[in-house]
Amino acid sequence: TFEVECAQAGITLTVPEDRTVLQVLNDAGLSVPCSCEQGVCGTCEVPVLEGEVDHRDSILSASERAANTTMMTCVSRAKSSRLVLDL
Ligand code: FES
Repeated sequence: TFEVECAQAGITLTVPEDRTVLQVLNDAGLSVPCSCEQGVCGTCEVPVLEGEVDHRDSILSASERAANTTMMTCVSRAKSSRLVLDL
């Protein structure tokens, strides 16, 4: 379980083990688009401002992962207890 703060929307959401960041964002009405939901298409990409992402997609390169400025919300999670997204 970790928290996701949406900087623009001004809300903080909790992501439990059995849900994805994408599901939690959409449930909160943020309407992040998605397609494959398997980390291969890039549709659900969201900019990251703070926090360490646990990248589980098959799209980002090693340098993009290390830059930690974006994430695929359908599969990726957090290594830190909180992520701040530019949403
Ligand atoms: Fe395709 Fe997330 S919906 S990478």
